[in-house]
Amino acid sequence: MSKHVLGIIGGSGLYDIEGLTGAEWVTVESPWGEPSDDLLVGEISGTKVVFLPRHGRGHAVSPSDINYHANIDALKRLGVTDIFSLSACGSLKEELPPGTFVIVDQFIDRTFARKKSFFGKGLVAHVPLSHPVSSWLGDIAEDGLKAQKVPYARGGSYLVMEGPQFSTLAESELYRSWGCSVIGMTNMPEAKLAREAEIRYATVAMVTDFDCWHPDHDSVDVQMVIKTLLDNADKAKALVKFLADNINNRDSEPNCGTDTILDMAIMTAPEK
Ligand code: ADE
Repeated sequence: MSKHVLGIIGGSGLYDIEGLTGAEWVTVESPWGEPSDDLLVGEISGTKVVFLPRHGRGHAVSPSDINYHANIDALKRLGVTDIFSLSACGSLKEELPPGTFVIVDQFIDRTFARKKSFFGKGLVAHVPLSHPVSSWLGDIAEDGLKAQKVPYARGGSYLVMEGPQFSTLAESELYRSWGCSVIGMTNMPEAKLAREAEIRYATVAMVTDFDCWHPDHDSVDVQMVIKTLLDNADKAKALVKFLADNINNRDSEPNCGTDTILDMAIMTAPEK
């Protein structure tokens, strides 16, 4: 089996991936409840790939209702070592127009109606999150976007809002004043739970709109979001293929400790 098992969490507009050999939809049971959907398991160029549509096929699960715990747990149970997340986002910067792919490196989590940890009563753990994404995975994604000549930006903060409504103008301007690059509703607590599950995580946020701050785009229009996503679906799929083709051919990541993070994080004394 390949050393790195690639988990892909597909966002809006990405409910399937092509080119997987031996592909089959697998139902995974989790003590955390039901994942967003079955998971599509197959192989690309010898790399095992596990795909999960974040909103379910047909997009029936809203960002606040996604069972992020079950999704991450299901990926872990299928052996995933590296998660690559794709999501739609709004842009908070003039220089990131719709169609840009942003390899995000930071998050500001403004969600408030979601459970954020696998830990809690009875077993307390605090994992570090100063660098929430893997720059090693980000490097592979960057190479893929360069090779495809997709407009992209490396780095930037993703503001995660609760939704489901889009932001008010005052909120959008506040997030811009914080220097955030993009805004979306789904990458938290996903990134936090991946860290707790000792899975490397990286994300590419695909800009679909200028949010509401932009003088030429008064409000966000879902039809425009969907159109931009469909226009970019082939690029997202090609990126997934590039990642699968390359993830097992690279020098290993310099030890960043993600896969052993819990060794130093658990506070609760072991039972005697
Ligand atoms: N997803 C796509 N565009 C968005 C926006 N402007 N705000 C929040 N989530 C989004």
